[in-house]
Amino acid sequence: MSNMVVVGTQWGDEGKGKVVDLLTAKSDMVVRFQGGNNAGHTLVVEGKQFIFHLIPSGILYPDKKCLIGNGVVVDPEVLLEEMAKLEDARIDVTPRRLSLSEKAHLIMPYHRAIDHAREARKGKAMIGTTGRGIGPCYEDKAARTGIRAIDLTEPEVLEEKVKVNLEEKNFYLTRFLNAEALEAEPIVDAYLKMAERLKPYITDVSLELDRAVKAGRRILFEGAQGTHLDVDHGTYPFVTSSNPVAGSACAGAGIGPNQLTHVIGIVKAYTTRVGAGPFATELSDATGDYIQEKGHEFGATTGRRRRCGWLDLVIVKDSVRLNGLGSIAITKLDVLTGLEKVKLCVGYEVRGEAVDHRPASIRRMALCQPVYREMPGWREDISGVRKLDRLPPEARAYLNVIEEISGVPISIVSVGPAREATIVVKDVF
Ligand code: GDP
Ligand code: IMO
Ligand code: MG
Repeated sequence: MSNMVVVGTQWGDEGKGKVVDLLTAKSDMVVRFQGGNNAGHTLVVEGKQFIFHLIPSGILYPDKKCLIGNGVVVDPEVLLEEMAKLEDARIDVTPRRLSLSEKAHLIMPYHRAIDHAREARKGKAMIGTTGRGIGPCYEDKAARTGIRAIDLTEPEVLEEKVKVNLEEKNFYLTRFLNAEALEAEPIVDAYLKMAERLKPYITDVSLELDRAVKAGRRILFEGAQGTHLDVDHGTYPFVTSSNPVAGSACAGAGIGPNQLTHVIGIVKAYTTRVGAGPFATELSDATGDYIQEKGHEFGATTGRRRRCGWLDLVIVKDSVRLNGLGSIAITKLDVLTGLEKVKLCVGYEVRGEAVDHRPASIRRMALCQPVYREMPGWREDISGVRKLDRLPPEARAYLNVIEEISGVPISIVSVGPAREATIVVKDVF
Protein backbone atom coordinates (compact mmCIF):
# COMPACT_ATOMS: atom_id res chain seq x y z
CA MET A 1 0.00 0.00 0.00
CA SER A 2 1.36 3.42 -0.90
CA ASN A 3 -1.07 6.30 -0.61
CA MET A 4 0.60 9.64 -0.40
CA VAL A 5 -0.56 13.13 0.49
CA VAL A 6 1.14 16.19 -1.00
CA VAL A 7 0.67 19.41 0.98
CA GLY A 8 1.95 22.97 0.89
CA THR A 9 3.91 23.96 3.99
CA GLN A 10 3.83 27.73 3.50
CA TRP A 11 1.20 30.10 2.09
CA GLY A 12 0.51 28.23 -1.15
CA ASP A 13 2.24 28.24 -4.54
CA GLU A 14 5.09 26.10 -3.27
CA GLY A 15 5.19 24.09 -6.50
CA LYS A 16 2.71 21.37 -5.49
CA GLY A 17 1.53 20.95 -9.10
CA LYS A 18 5.02 20.17 -10.37
CA VAL A 19 5.68 17.62 -7.61
CA VAL A 20 2.25 15.99 -7.97
CA ASP A 21 2.84 15.64 -11.71
CA LEU A 22 6.20 14.02 -10.96
CA LEU A 23 4.79 11.58 -8.40
CA THR A 24 1.84 10.71 -10.64
CA ALA A 25 4.20 8.59 -12.74
CA LYS A 26 4.19 6.00 -9.95
CA SER A 27 0.55 6.44 -8.89
CA ASP A 28 -2.73 5.16 -10.27
CA MET A 29 -5.09 7.88 -9.07
CA VAL A 30 -4.83 11.55 -8.13
CA VAL A 31 -7.42 13.15 -5.84
CA ARG A 32 -8.13 16.76 -4.89
CA PHE A 33 -9.67 16.92 -1.42
CA GLN A 34 -10.15 20.60 -0.50
CA GLY A 35 -10.12 24.13 -1.85
CA GLY A 36 -11.48 25.07 -5.24
CA ASN A 37 -10.45 27.20 -8.17
CA ASN A 38 -8.61 29.55 -5.83
CA ALA A 39 -5.79 27.09 -6.52
CA GLY A 40 -3.49 27.45 -9.50
CA HIS A 41 -1.17 24.49 -10.03
CA THR A 42 1.39 24.84 -12.79
CA LEU A 43 3.08 22.02 -14.67
CA VAL A 44 5.57 22.23 -17.46
CA VAL A 45 5.62 19.12 -19.62
CA GLU A 46 7.55 18.85 -22.88
CA GLY A 47 8.04 22.60 -22.87
CA LYS A 48 4.30 23.29 -22.58
CA GLN A 49 2.82 25.02 -19.55
CA PHE A 50 -0.50 23.90 -18.06
CA ILE A 51 -2.27 25.58 -15.14
CA PHE A 52 -4.93 23.58 -13.31
CA HIS A 53 -7.43 25.11 -10.92
CA LEU A 54 -9.75 22.18 -10.24
CA ILE A 55 -8.73 19.14 -12.19
CA PRO A 56 -6.00 17.14 -10.43
CA SER A 57 -2.52 17.62 -11.86
CA GLY A 58 -2.34 13.93 -12.84
CA ILE A 59 -4.58 14.45 -15.87
CA LEU A 60 -1.69 14.76 -18.34
CA TYR A 61 -0.82 11.08 -17.94
CA PRO A 62 -3.11 9.10 -20.25
CA ASP A 63 -3.65 6.13 -17.93
CA LYS A 64 -4.32 7.76 -14.55
CA LYS A 65 -7.65 8.43 -12.94
CA CYS A 66 -8.31 11.88 -11.47
CA LEU A 67 -10.94 12.53 -8.84
CA ILE A 68 -12.46 15.63 -7.28
CA GLY A 69 -13.42 14.79 -3.71
CA ASN A 70 -16.35 15.93 -1.59
CA GLY A 71 -14.15 18.43 0.26
CA VAL A 72 -13.59 20.51 -2.88
CA VAL A 73 -15.87 23.44 -3.74
CA VAL A 74 -16.55 23.27 -7.46
CA ASP A 75 -17.44 26.08 -9.82
CA PRO A 76 -19.03 24.03 -12.61
CA GLU A 77 -18.35 26.70 -15.21
CA VAL A 78 -14.64 26.65 -14.38
CA LEU A 79 -14.57 22.86 -14.40
CA LEU A 80 -16.18 22.73 -17.84
CA GLU A 81 -13.77 25.37 -19.16
CA GLU A 82 -10.82 23.42 -17.85
CA MET A 83 -12.16 20.24 -19.44
CA ALA A 84 -12.67 22.01 -22.76
CA LYS A 85 -9.10 23.31 -22.76
CA LEU A 86 -7.78 19.81 -22.17
CA GLU A 87 -9.96 18.44 -24.94
CA ASP A 88 -8.53 21.11 -27.26
CA ALA A 89 -5.07 19.80 -26.34
CA ARG A 90 -6.34 16.28 -27.23
CA ILE A 91 -6.23 15.08 -23.66
CA ASP A 92 -8.86 12.52 -22.73
CA VAL A 93 -11.18 13.90 -20.04
CA THR A 94 -14.00 11.40 -20.32
CA PRO A 95 -15.57 9.90 -17.16
CA ARG A 96 -13.03 7.07 -17.53
CA ARG A 97 -10.41 9.64 -16.54
CA LEU A 98 -12.27 12.05 -14.26
CA SER A 99 -14.81 11.75 -11.43
CA LEU A 100 -16.61 14.42 -9.45
CA SER A 101 -17.94 13.61 -6.01
CA GLU A 102 -21.71 13.79 -5.73
CA LYS A 103 -21.18 15.41 -2.33
CA ALA A 104 -18.92 18.23 -3.54
CA HIS A 105 -20.47 21.65 -2.96
CA LEU A 106 -21.03 23.93 -5.92
CA ILE A 107 -19.91 27.53 -6.15
CA MET A 108 -22.92 29.61 -7.19
CA PRO A 109 -22.96 33.09 -8.80
CA TYR A 110 -24.09 34.57 -5.46
CA HIS A 111 -20.97 33.18 -3.77
CA ARG A 112 -18.77 35.07 -6.20
CA ALA A 113 -20.89 38.21 -5.86
CA ILE A 114 -20.64 38.11 -2.06
CA ASP A 115 -16.88 37.43 -2.13
CA HIS A 116 -16.31 40.52 -4.34
CA ALA A 117 -18.70 42.85 -2.57
CA ARG A 118 -17.44 41.88 0.86
CA GLU A 119 -13.81 42.48 -0.04
CA ALA A 120 -14.73 45.85 -1.59
CA ARG A 121 -16.58 46.82 1.59
CA LYS A 122 -13.62 45.86 3.77
CA GLY A 123 -11.36 48.24 1.84
CA LYS A 124 -7.93 48.31 3.46
CA ALA A 125 -8.85 45.47 5.82
CA MET A 126 -9.49 43.09 2.93
CA ILE A 127 -8.14 39.54 3.04
CA GLY A 128 -7.12 39.70 -0.59
CA THR A 129 -9.15 36.63 -1.57
CA THR A 130 -9.03 35.25 -5.08
CA GLY A 131 -12.61 36.44 -5.58
CA ARG A 132 -13.75 33.00 -6.68
CA GLY A 133 -16.52 32.64 -4.09
CA ILE A 134 -14.61 30.06 -2.06
CA GLY A 135 -15.36 31.43 1.43
CA PRO A 136 -19.09 32.04 0.85
CA CYS A 137 -19.47 28.53 -0.60
CA TYR A 138 -17.86 26.88 2.43
CA GLU A 139 -20.03 29.08 4.66
CA ASP A 140 -23.17 27.65 3.02
CA LYS A 141 -21.81 24.14 3.42
CA ALA A 142 -21.44 24.70 7.17
CA ALA A 143 -24.81 26.48 7.31
CA ARG A 144 -26.38 23.44 5.61
CA THR A 145 -27.79 25.50 2.77
CA GLY A 146 -25.22 24.51 0.17
CA ILE A 147 -25.96 23.08 -3.26
CA ARG A 148 -24.13 19.85 -4.04
CA ALA A 149 -23.15 18.14 -7.29
CA ILE A 150 -25.87 15.55 -6.67
CA ASP A 151 -28.46 18.35 -6.86
CA LEU A 152 -27.56 18.74 -10.53
CA THR A 153 -29.25 15.38 -11.08
CA GLU A 154 -32.51 16.49 -9.41
CA PRO A 155 -33.75 19.64 -11.20
CA GLU A 156 -36.66 20.37 -8.82
CA VAL A 157 -34.37 20.19 -5.79
CA LEU A 158 -31.87 22.50 -7.48
CA GLU A 159 -34.52 25.04 -8.42
CA GLU A 160 -36.08 25.07 -4.97
CA LYS A 161 -32.70 25.49 -3.23
CA VAL A 162 -31.60 28.33 -5.50
CA LYS A 163 -34.89 30.18 -4.90
CA VAL A 164 -34.78 29.77 -1.14
CA ASN A 165 -31.10 30.72 -0.95
CA LEU A 166 -31.56 33.80 -3.10
CA GLU A 167 -34.12 35.27 -0.73
CA GLU A 168 -31.45 35.49 1.93
CA LYS A 169 -28.50 36.23 -0.36
CA ASN A 170 -30.29 39.06 -2.16
CA PHE A 171 -31.24 40.67 1.12
CA TYR A 172 -27.60 40.53 2.22
CA LEU A 173 -26.24 41.61 -1.17
CA THR A 174 -28.51 44.61 -1.60
CA ARG A 175 -29.15 45.78 1.95
CA PHE A 176 -25.76 45.18 3.50
CA LEU A 177 -23.20 44.97 0.70
CA ASN A 178 -24.73 47.55 -1.64
CA ALA A 179 -24.50 45.10 -4.52
CA GLU A 180 -26.96 43.99 -7.19
CA ALA A 181 -29.61 41.35 -6.54
CA LEU A 182 -29.50 38.15 -8.60
CA GLU A 183 -32.37 36.36 -10.34
CA ALA A 184 -33.09 32.69 -9.77
CA GLU A 185 -34.26 31.68 -13.21
CA PRO A 186 -31.12 32.36 -15.27
CA ILE A 187 -29.02 30.68 -12.58
CA VAL A 188 -31.18 27.55 -12.56
CA ASP A 189 -31.20 27.43 -16.38
CA ALA A 190 -27.44 27.80 -16.61
CA TYR A 191 -26.76 25.17 -13.94
CA LEU A 192 -29.20 22.68 -15.48
CA LYS A 193 -27.50 23.16 -18.82
CA MET A 194 -24.12 22.49 -17.26
CA ALA A 195 -25.64 19.52 -15.43
CA GLU A 196 -26.19 17.78 -18.75
CA ARG A 197 -22.46 17.80 -19.41
CA LEU A 198 -21.39 17.03 -15.87
CA LYS A 199 -23.82 14.25 -14.93
CA PRO A 200 -21.71 11.39 -16.36
CA TYR A 201 -18.82 12.45 -14.11
CA ILE A 202 -20.78 12.60 -10.85
CA THR A 203 -20.07 9.54 -8.70
CA ASP A 204 -19.39 8.34 -5.18
CA VAL A 205 -15.68 9.12 -4.98
CA SER A 206 -15.32 7.48 -1.57
CA LEU A 207 -16.58 4.16 -2.97
CA GLU A 208 -14.36 4.46 -6.01
CA LEU A 209 -11.33 5.02 -3.79
CA ASP A 210 -12.27 2.13 -1.54
CA ARG A 211 -12.42 -0.22 -4.52
CA ALA A 212 -9.06 1.07 -5.71
CA VAL A 213 -7.43 0.62 -2.30
CA LYS A 214 -8.72 -2.94 -2.11
CA ALA A 215 -7.30 -3.63 -5.56
CA GLY A 216 -3.89 -2.40 -4.38
CA ARG A 217 -3.88 0.82 -6.42
CA ARG A 218 -1.66 3.73 -5.43
CA ILE A 219 -3.46 6.94 -4.61
CA LEU A 220 -1.97 10.40 -4.55
CA PHE A 221 -3.81 13.14 -2.65
CA GLU A 222 -3.15 16.60 -4.07
CA GLY A 223 -3.42 19.37 -1.51
CA ALA A 224 -4.21 22.93 -2.52
CA GLN A 225 -3.18 26.17 -0.77
CA GLY A 226 -0.78 25.74 2.14
CA THR A 227 -0.70 24.90 5.83
CA HIS A 228 -0.52 28.54 6.94
CA LEU A 229 -3.64 29.33 4.88
CA ASP A 230 -5.53 26.64 6.83
CA VAL A 231 -8.74 28.00 8.36
CA ASP A 232 -7.82 26.41 11.72
CA HIS A 233 -4.05 26.46 11.76
CA GLY A 234 -3.17 29.37 9.48
CA THR A 235 -2.70 33.09 10.02
CA TYR A 236 -6.40 33.56 10.76
CA PRO A 237 -8.28 35.57 9.49
CA PHE A 238 -5.82 35.90 6.58
CA VAL A 239 -6.49 32.35 5.46
CA THR A 240 -8.67 30.40 3.06
CA SER A 241 -11.88 28.70 4.19
CA SER A 242 -10.79 25.06 4.05
CA ASN A 243 -8.24 22.81 5.77
CA PRO A 244 -5.25 22.30 3.49
CA VAL A 245 -3.49 20.15 6.15
CA ALA A 246 -2.93 16.47 5.37
CA GLY A 247 -5.56 15.21 7.82
CA SER A 248 -8.18 16.84 5.65
CA ALA A 249 -7.44 14.33 2.86
CA CYS A 250 -9.49 11.77 4.79
CA ALA A 251 -12.60 13.88 5.32
CA GLY A 252 -12.31 15.56 1.93
CA ALA A 253 -11.99 12.37 -0.11
CA GLY A 254 -13.90 9.92 2.06
CA ILE A 255 -11.17 7.53 3.21
CA GLY A 256 -9.87 6.46 6.62
CA PRO A 257 -6.60 7.72 8.12
CA ASN A 258 -5.24 4.16 8.18
CA GLN A 259 -5.03 4.32 4.37
CA LEU A 260 -2.42 7.09 4.28
CA THR A 261 1.17 5.95 4.17
CA HIS A 262 3.28 9.06 3.59
CA VAL A 263 2.86 12.83 3.74
CA ILE A 264 5.20 14.92 1.66
CA GLY A 265 5.46 18.63 2.39
CA ILE A 266 6.39 21.03 -0.39
CA VAL A 267 8.79 23.73 0.76
CA LYS A 268 9.70 26.51 -1.64
CA ALA A 269 13.38 27.45 -1.09
CA TYR A 270 12.14 30.91 -0.04
CA THR A 271 8.73 32.21 1.05
CA THR A 272 5.93 33.88 -0.90
CA ARG A 273 2.45 35.05 -0.11
CA VAL A 274 -0.39 36.49 -2.22
CA GLY A 275 -3.06 38.46 -0.47
CA ALA A 276 -2.82 40.17 2.89
CA GLY A 277 -1.59 38.88 6.25
CA PRO A 278 1.51 38.63 8.41
CA PHE A 279 4.78 37.55 6.80
CA ALA A 280 7.78 37.82 9.14
CA THR A 281 10.54 37.27 6.57
CA GLU A 282 9.08 39.49 3.82
CA LEU A 283 11.72 41.45 1.89
CA SER A 284 10.72 44.89 0.69
CA ASP A 285 14.11 45.54 -0.89
CA ALA A 286 16.16 44.72 -3.97
CA THR A 287 16.64 41.08 -2.86
CA GLY A 288 12.85 40.67 -2.62
CA ASP A 289 12.50 42.10 -6.14
CA TYR A 290 15.28 39.82 -7.39
CA ILE A 291 13.52 36.70 -6.07
CA GLN A 292 10.13 37.92 -7.34
CA GLU A 293 11.47 38.48 -10.85
CA LYS A 294 13.74 35.47 -11.07
CA GLY A 295 11.07 33.18 -9.62
CA HIS A 296 8.33 34.71 -11.84
CA GLU A 297 6.32 35.11 -8.66
CA PHE A 298 2.97 36.11 -10.09
CA GLY A 299 -0.22 34.34 -8.99
CA ALA A 300 -1.22 31.45 -11.27
CA THR A 301 -4.90 32.25 -10.59
CA THR A 302 -5.17 36.01 -10.25
CA GLY A 303 -1.92 37.21 -11.83
CA ARG A 304 -1.14 39.23 -8.69
CA ARG A 305 2.48 39.92 -7.78
CA ARG A 306 3.48 37.60 -4.95
CA ARG A 307 5.17 39.03 -1.88
CA CYS A 308 8.60 37.41 -1.43
CA GLY A 309 10.98 36.79 1.46
CA TRP A 310 13.54 34.44 2.99
CA LEU A 311 12.67 30.88 3.88
CA ASP A 312 10.90 30.86 7.25
CA LEU A 313 11.74 27.61 9.00
CA VAL A 314 9.51 28.46 11.97
CA ILE A 315 6.44 28.04 9.80
CA VAL A 316 7.95 25.00 8.07
CA LYS A 317 8.53 23.39 11.48
CA ASP A 318 4.92 24.09 12.43
CA SER A 319 3.91 22.40 9.17
CA VAL A 320 5.98 19.33 10.00
CA ARG A 321 3.91 18.92 13.16
CA LEU A 322 0.52 19.88 11.70
CA ASN A 323 0.81 17.49 8.75
CA GLY A 324 2.96 14.70 10.14
CA LEU A 325 5.44 15.17 7.32
CA GLY A 326 7.46 12.11 6.40
CA SER A 327 9.62 13.97 3.91
CA ILE A 328 10.10 17.34 2.28
CA ALA A 329 10.39 18.38 -1.37
CA ILE A 330 12.38 21.58 -1.86
CA THR A 331 11.34 23.56 -4.91
CA LYS A 332 12.78 26.53 -6.80
CA LEU A 333 16.27 26.18 -5.34
CA ASP A 334 17.54 27.47 -8.71
CA VAL A 335 15.88 30.83 -8.06
CA LEU A 336 18.34 31.59 -5.23
CA THR A 337 21.34 31.13 -7.54
CA GLY A 338 23.35 34.32 -7.91
CA LEU A 339 22.69 35.76 -4.45
CA GLU A 340 25.87 36.57 -2.55
CA LYS A 341 24.31 35.63 0.79
CA VAL A 342 21.24 33.57 1.61
CA LYS A 343 19.34 33.69 4.87
CA LEU A 344 17.21 31.17 6.72
CA CYS A 345 14.86 32.22 9.50
CA VAL A 346 15.47 29.76 12.34
CA GLY A 347 13.37 31.42 15.04
CA TYR A 348 11.53 34.61 16.02
CA GLU A 349 12.13 37.16 18.70
CA VAL A 350 9.43 39.26 20.34
CA ARG A 351 10.83 42.09 22.44
CA GLY A 352 13.99 40.12 23.14
CA GLU A 353 12.11 36.90 23.97
CA ALA A 354 12.78 33.83 21.80
CA VAL A 355 9.72 32.35 20.07
CA ASP A 356 9.95 29.11 18.12
CA HIS A 357 6.32 28.63 16.97
CA ARG A 358 4.13 31.01 15.01
CA PRO A 359 1.86 32.76 17.54
CA ALA A 360 -1.93 32.51 17.05
CA SER A 361 -2.38 36.23 17.72
CA ILE A 362 -2.02 38.33 14.59
CA ARG A 363 -0.86 41.24 16.73
CA ARG A 364 1.87 39.17 18.33
CA MET A 365 2.80 37.74 14.94
CA ALA A 366 3.32 41.30 13.68
CA LEU A 367 5.84 41.83 16.48
CA CYS A 368 7.89 38.73 15.55
CA GLN A 369 11.35 39.62 14.36
CA PRO A 370 13.05 36.88 12.36
CA VAL A 371 16.30 35.45 13.69
CA TYR A 372 18.42 34.57 10.68
CA ARG A 373 21.21 32.16 9.94
CA GLU A 374 23.19 33.77 7.15
CA MET A 375 25.06 31.57 4.72
CA PRO A 376 27.17 32.10 1.61
CA GLY A 377 25.26 31.84 -1.68
CA TRP A 378 26.30 30.11 -4.90
CA ARG A 379 26.77 31.37 -8.45
CA GLU A 380 26.81 28.16 -10.53
CA ASP A 381 23.75 27.40 -12.68
CA ILE A 382 22.13 24.41 -10.95
CA SER A 383 19.16 23.93 -13.26
CA GLY A 384 20.89 21.04 -15.05
CA VAL A 385 21.93 19.23 -11.87
CA ARG A 386 20.28 15.83 -11.35
CA LYS A 387 22.34 14.47 -8.45
CA LEU A 388 22.62 15.93 -4.97
CA ASP A 389 26.42 15.65 -4.82
CA ARG A 390 26.69 17.75 -8.00
CA LEU A 391 25.17 20.78 -6.29
CA PRO A 392 27.61 23.49 -5.18
CA PRO A 393 28.69 22.93 -1.54
CA GLU A 394 26.91 26.16 -0.50
CA ALA A 395 23.60 24.89 -1.90
CA ARG A 396 24.06 21.56 -0.14
CA ALA A 397 24.83 23.37 3.12
CA TYR A 398 21.60 25.35 2.68
CA LEU A 399 19.64 22.10 2.27
CA ASN A 400 21.39 20.58 5.29
CA VAL A 401 20.19 23.42 7.53
CA ILE A 402 16.60 22.86 6.31
CA GLU A 403 16.85 19.17 7.22
CA GLU A 404 18.51 19.92 10.53
CA ILE A 405 15.97 22.52 11.70
CA SER A 406 12.85 20.79 10.32
CA GLY A 407 13.97 17.36 11.49
CA VAL A 408 12.57 15.83 8.29
CA PRO A 409 14.56 14.29 5.40
CA ILE A 410 14.49 15.87 1.96
CA SER A 411 13.21 13.44 -0.67
CA ILE A 412 13.11 15.72 -3.73
CA VAL A 413 14.91 18.89 -4.83
CA SER A 414 13.42 20.78 -7.75
CA VAL A 415 15.74 23.00 -9.81
CA GLY A 416 13.41 24.14 -12.60
CA PRO A 417 9.75 24.16 -13.62
CA ALA A 418 9.97 21.14 -15.96
CA ARG A 419 9.30 17.56 -14.92
CA GLU A 420 12.89 16.53 -15.58
CA ALA A 421 14.48 19.44 -13.67
CA THR A 422 14.47 17.37 -10.51
CA ILE A 423 16.91 15.71 -8.12
CA VAL A 424 15.33 12.61 -6.60
CA VAL A 425 17.10 12.16 -3.29
CA LYS A 426 15.00 9.31 -1.99
CA ASP A 427 12.21 7.24 -3.54
CA VAL A 428 9.12 8.01 -1.45
CA PHE A 429 7.11 5.03 -2.78
P1 GDP B 1 1.36 25.39 -6.66
O1 GDP B 1 0.15 26.23 -6.49
O2 GDP B 1 1.94 24.96 -5.35
O3 GDP B 1 1.17 24.23 -7.57
O4 GDP B 1 2.46 26.33 -7.32
P2 GDP B 1 2.24 27.36 -8.56
O5 GDP B 1 2.08 26.58 -9.80
O6 GDP B 1 1.19 28.34 -8.22
O7 GDP B 1 3.60 28.16 -8.52
C1 GDP B 1 4.82 27.53 -8.67
C2 GDP B 1 5.54 28.10 -9.90
O8 GDP B 1 6.91 27.77 -9.87
C3 GDP B 1 5.02 27.57 -11.22
O9 GDP B 1 5.12 28.58 -12.18
C4 GDP B 1 5.97 26.42 -11.54
O10 GDP B 1 6.09 26.17 -12.93
C5 GDP B 1 7.27 26.97 -11.00
N1 GDP B 1 8.21 25.97 -10.48
C6 GDP B 1 7.95 24.82 -9.80
N2 GDP B 1 9.11 24.26 -9.40
C7 GDP B 1 10.10 25.06 -9.83
C8 GDP B 1 11.52 25.03 -9.69
O11 GDP B 1 12.11 24.14 -9.07
N3 GDP B 1 12.22 26.07 -10.25
C9 GDP B 1 11.62 27.07 -10.93
N4 GDP B 1 12.38 28.03 -11.43
N5 GDP B 1 10.28 27.12 -11.07
C10 GDP B 1 9.54 26.14 -10.52
P1 IMO C 1 -2.47 27.11 -4.52
O1 IMO C 1 -3.19 25.79 -4.45
C1 IMO C 1 -1.69 31.01 -2.75
C2 IMO C 1 -5.00 32.93 -0.66
C3 IMO C 1 -5.56 34.20 -1.27
C4 IMO C 1 -5.96 34.96 -0.01
C5 IMO C 1 -6.49 33.84 0.88
C6 IMO C 1 -8.00 33.65 0.85
O2 IMO C 1 -2.21 27.56 -5.90
O3 IMO C 1 -1.26 27.08 -3.66
P2 IMO C 1 -9.67 32.61 -0.93
O4 IMO C 1 -9.96 33.00 -2.35
O5 IMO C 1 -9.17 31.21 -0.78
O6 IMO C 1 -10.79 32.92 0.01
O7 IMO C 1 -8.47 33.61 -0.48
O8 IMO C 1 -5.87 32.64 0.43
N1 IMO C 1 -4.97 31.76 -1.54
C7 IMO C 1 -3.86 31.28 -2.11
N2 IMO C 1 -2.59 31.75 -2.10
N3 IMO C 1 -1.97 29.86 -3.40
C8 IMO C 1 -3.22 29.36 -3.41
O9 IMO C 1 -3.53 28.16 -3.92
C9 IMO C 1 -4.25 30.10 -2.77
N4 IMO C 1 -5.58 29.92 -2.60
C10 IMO C 1 -6.01 30.93 -1.84
O10 IMO C 1 -4.59 34.89 -2.01
O11 IMO C 1 -4.83 35.49 0.60
MG1 MG D 1 -0.59 28.08 -7.05
